Amino acid sequence: MRFTVAIDGPAAAGKGTIARAVAAHFGFAHLDTGLLYRAVGIKGGDPVAAARALTLNDLQRDDLRSLAAGEAASRVAALPEVRRALVAFQREFARREGGAVLDGRDIGTVICPAAEVKLFVTASSEIRARRRWLEAGGAAAPESLEEVLEQVRSRDARDMGRADAPLRPATDAIILDTSELSIEAAVRRAIERVAARLSRR
Ligand code: C5P
Repeated sequence: MRFTVAIDGPAAAGKGTIARAVAAHFGFAHLDTGLLYRAVGIKGGDPVAAARALTLNDLQRDDLRSLAAGEAASRVAALPEVRRALVAFQREFARREGGAVLDGRDIGTVICPAAEVKLFVTASSEIRARRRWLEAGGAAAPESLEEVLEQVRSRDARDMGRADAPLRPATDAIILDTSELSIEAAVRRAIERVAARLSRR
C-alpha cells in the first residue's frame, strides 16, 4: 500500500511530534525533511554539492538539532538548486510501500501535492518561542526568551518570504493550530483524519 501524509508548518509548532505519533500509530515510515536541510547547512562548503551527495549517513550527525544547524538550514533552503537536489529522495520516500509521513515546509505544496492527507500545523510565534526556550532549559537556557522569539520570527520571515517553495498551507490542507489545541488533541485529530482517509480506500 502507498499512502502519504504530508505535514507542514513553521518551527516548533508541534509537527514533528504529530508526525512521529501518526507514523507510530499506523506503522508508517517517517522522514523529518528538516534534517536534510540541516545536514546540508552544517556540512559547510558548496551547499549544492553537499545536497547532491547527501546520504542517509549524513542524517545521523548528533549536532543537527542545534539552533546553529537550524539557522544554517534555513539559509541553504532558500537556494533553488539545493531544493531541487533533494526532491527525488523525498518523493521516493513518500511513495515507499507501507505508507509514509513526511514533515517539513513544502511537502503538501511541492514535494507531494497528491498526498492522501495534508496537514498544516501552526501556532503563534510567541507560543512557539516559549516552547523552544523551555526545551533549551528555560531560565537556564543560553538565550533569553526575547532572543529565541527574535530567531523564530526571522526564520519564519525567511521561510515564508523566499521565492522558491515558500512556507504556506496547501489549499486542501487541514489546519491544526496548536496555540488553541494541546499537542495531544492535535495528535488525536491528525490520527482521525488519516483513519478517515484510509477507510475510503
Ligand atoms: O523543521 P526544521 O526546523 O528542522 O527545518 C530547518 C529549516 O530547513 C527550516 O527553517 C526551513 O528553512 C528548511 N526546510 C525547508 N523545507 C523543508 C524542511 C525544512 O525549507 N521541507
